[in-house]
Amino acid sequence: MNTNEESQVDRTTIDEIISRHRGKPGELLTVMEEIQEASEFKYLDKLSMDYLSSQTKVPLSQIYSVATFYSFFNLKPQGKHSIIVCRGTACHTKGSKTLLNDLSTLPGCKEALDSGETSFTTDDRLITVKTVACFGQCALAPVVAVDGIIYSNVTSEQIKKLLQHLQEDKKDENIRLY
Ligand code: FES
Repeated sequence: MNTNEESQVDRTTIDEIISRHRGKPGELLTVMEEIQEASEFKYLDKLSMDYLSSQTKVPLSQIYSVATFYSFFNLKPQGKHSIIVCRGTACHTKGSKTLLNDLSTLPGCKEALDSGETSFTTDDRLITVKTVACFGQCALAPVVAVDGIIYSNVTSEQIKKLLQHLQEDKKDENIRLY
């Protein structure tokens, strides 16, 4: 496994991604997306971004502003499973705070979210909990995305069951909320 001090994506892979998209519309976004996807823990690490900047001559500051602007980019290692809770007004009204409280039973999660972080990953890198401002599906509130699948009208019972399922012995399975 790579450590944080090593580039998460090897240079040959980054070179190949850059050359495949060179000169195409939206080149930087696509390249960054593919580098993140190639990273074991699905994030853009500093060394990979340094190398991308040096190879493309795009200033590092520009790469970071893109990475921080789009919520689908991660600057920290991600868990195997992701649970994203919408914190928009419609979802809040329909109980998203309760869902977040259920997830905050994961050790360290409450502290991270209370300190203003929008993302938390368990120490064993099994689960990443995130919040978003709005999924754009307010009529289906409260909305939660689990491993990229959007679920509507999510209940506290479903979240608790999901956590229990993950913390038992089914960690490697694809997970579904219902
Ligand atoms: S407020 Fe949650 S989807 Fe819009």
